[in-house]
Amino acid sequence: MSAQDRIIVPLDVSTEAEAIALLDRLPQVSFWKVGLELFVGAGPTILQILKERDKRIFLDLKFHDIPNTVAGACRSAVRYGVDLLTIHAAAGRTALESAQSALAEAAGETNQSSPNLIAITLLTSLSSRDLAFDLKVPVELPEYVLNMALMAKESGLAGIVCSPQEASQIREVCGNGFLRVCPGVRPTWAATGDQRRSLTPKQAIEAGASYLVIGRPITSADEPAAAFERICAELGT
Ligand code: C5P
Repeated sequence: MSAQDRIIVPLDVSTEAEAIALLDRLPQVSFWKVGLELFVGAGPTILQILKERDKRIFLDLKFHDIPNTVAGACRSAVRYGVDLLTIHAAAGRTALESAQSALAEAAGETNQSSPNLIAITLLTSLSSRDLAFDLKVPVELPEYVLNMALMAKESGLAGIVCSPQEASQIREVCGNGFLRVCPGVRPTWAATGDQRRSLTPKQAIEAGASYLVIGRPITSADEPAAAFERICAELGT
């Protein structure tokens, strides 16, 4: 896979018009992330637009519900032909397994390839303190993250979303074939913004990231296409 194909750019806008404007400015980007803001704001038409432009899609809706409901949501996602899809590991083993088998079934019925289902281990907005005092989880945060990754792996999922700092340990424990999709990536020349513990794109790949989710360093740049090309050059494509 070329370095260019490893970069996923989030469409972090709320309207279809803004999303299309971003797609038009960055024709060289092949993999886009659609999250809750755009999906709730603009509806699934944006997914059709991406397919018409032959783009790969990371549908980041972070499913978290009972097994029957997440399975139904996964079956619906197959219709859009998405490539990556997220679910909270905290939904539990049965929900992860139901979601995974629903994807495989729906893909088989429609002769499509199954989207890669990846788990959110723990939202990075949650601290060790939140985990211990509010959620009453009696294990240390890194151990919790690793356990959620292992449960996702045992449930047949394709990978997880993690910070680049966690990627190498997760690769070690879950194997190289288990995808590590990493936000929290910043080139040295970009503002860090609210990403507190970021690595550069090259460091993140070296640390074991399979895909990089890079937003504002590209989308908020004066010249987004030049920023994207610069990152690709740094990665060596
Ligand atoms: O602009 P930036 O590069 O920070 O965007 C990163 C993308 O990855 C955003 O869509 C953000 O919501 C998402 N994300 C993140 N940190 C996480 C999980 C997801 O930044 N821990």
